[in-house]
Amino acid sequence: MSDIADKKLADRGRMRIDWAESHMPVLREIRARFAKEKPLKGLTVAACLHVTTETANLMRALRDGGATMTLAASNPLSTQDDVAAALADEGIETYAIKGEDNDTYYKHLNAVLDTHPVITMDDGADLVSVLHSQREKQIDEIVAGTEETTTGVIRLRQMAAEGVLRYPIVAVNDTPTKRLFDNRWGTGQSTLDGITRATNILWASKVVVICGFGYGGRGLSTRARGLGAQVIVTEVDAVKALEATMEGFRVMPIADAARIGDIFITVTGDRDVLRREHFEVMKDGAILANTGHFDVEIDKPGLVAIAKGSREVRDHVMEYALGDGRRVYLLADGRLVNLAAAEGHPAVVMDMSFADQALSAEWVAKNHATLEKRVYDVPEDIDREVARLKLATLGIEIDALTPEQERYLSSWREGT
Ligand SMILES: NC(=O)c1ccc[n+]([C@@H]2O[C@H](COP(=O)([O-])OP(=O)(O)OC[C@H]3O[C@@H](n4cnc5c(N)ncnc54)[C@H](O)[C@@H]3O)[C@@H](O)[C@H]2O)c1
Repeated sequence: MSDIADKKLADRGRMRIDWAESHMPVLREIRARFAKEKPLKGLTVAACLHVTTETANLMRALRDGGATMTLAASNPLSTQDDVAAALADEGIETYAIKGEDNDTYYKHLNAVLDTHPVITMDDGADLVSVLHSQREKQIDEIVAGTEETTTGVIRLRQMAAEGVLRYPIVAVNDTPTKRLFDNRWGTGQSTLDGITRATNILWASKVVVICGFGYGGRGLSTRARGLGAQVIVTEVDAVKALEATMEGFRVMPIADAARIGDIFITVTGDRDVLRREHFEVMKDGAILANTGHFDVEIDKPGLVAIAKGSREVRDHVMEYALGDGRRVYLLADGRLVNLAAAEGHPAVVMDMSFADQALSAEWVAKNHATLEKRVYDVPEDIDREVARLKLATLGIEIDALTPEQERYLSSWREGT
């Protein structure tokens, strides 16, 4: 049965879930269809996702589609305890407590796997990883899975390349209606929201160093510039670095940026992007935040090793005193700051990501018999359908190709 922080929070959670629902019209429409058609009837689905109001709406849609749902947190700090309580109260087994330790985190992953799911839904590939390393006997029961984030997809593609991935998985992250909006506009806004809530800083005039100019980094850089910050980008990919330069951002190595930044934000999916040699040259008062999936982007052990002491000066703000009197501030213990110190992405963005998730779950439920043990892209028609529904809910119409245009665009014979 569920393991949550406090079941008395259920009413508050329900109200917040309903608020998110009012901003998720696409998922609402899918949920209504699922309730009629029951495409997931009889299937047990184990989800490992951030336990937020938006995720709760996805759980409700899948449940109404006929699935037996269980949910575990995909990060020890991202759980919204009132949402967990509301879901548990609605009969969706939920294993998530904000601030849970590592052992509890894995105990919770194992609890959802104990339900013997046939479909897994991951954000960071932790269920897949536990199944492939510790619960191999169970893998043959699983027909397919889905994956929500970049870091998870990277791990899964690596597993497929090494020939060790034992069931098909849809890379929901990589589909345009997810990655172009959630990773960019969602991460951009919610990360700045998390840092603002934790610190109450003014962004205008600050030197903000964004490490990584992928989908997340692009969103963050433009949002930070919009608030009046002077943005510096660091990259390891020449094309991305060039793009950032053309966008008008200063680009330089982190070793140089470390000396001049006021706020550092990592969003790379990589490890040790900010490390000891960088902490050693940072300005007094520098703020460090990570919004990449795992808490390895900022080398926390390296920071602890050079600190003379530390204390929590505000919620989610840990001060590290360095020997020479300088202080640096690590937010949310180096975990995704937008989910730990704020609420994650706005519902209106997650509406599309979770519409992709719901429709991908339906797709694998229908097609798993013919799928191979590899990573699949979300079928294009699902992506188009999500975009079409979203535009419709926004009241926006677009043009259609005329027959002549269709002929022209599919022909190579016409020229000057
Ligand atoms: N916080 C959230 O809610 C949220 C949302 C979406 C994605 N994510 C996570 O954010 C991370 C990035 O996702 P993305 O979609 O932007 O990925 P991406 O692959 O589009 O971008 C990552 C970028 O980081 C760069 N990079 C790698 N190592 C670097 C280093 N040492 N220094 C500087 N740059 C480096 C890469 O070249 C790449 O351009 C992933 O871990 C992903 O799972 C978090």
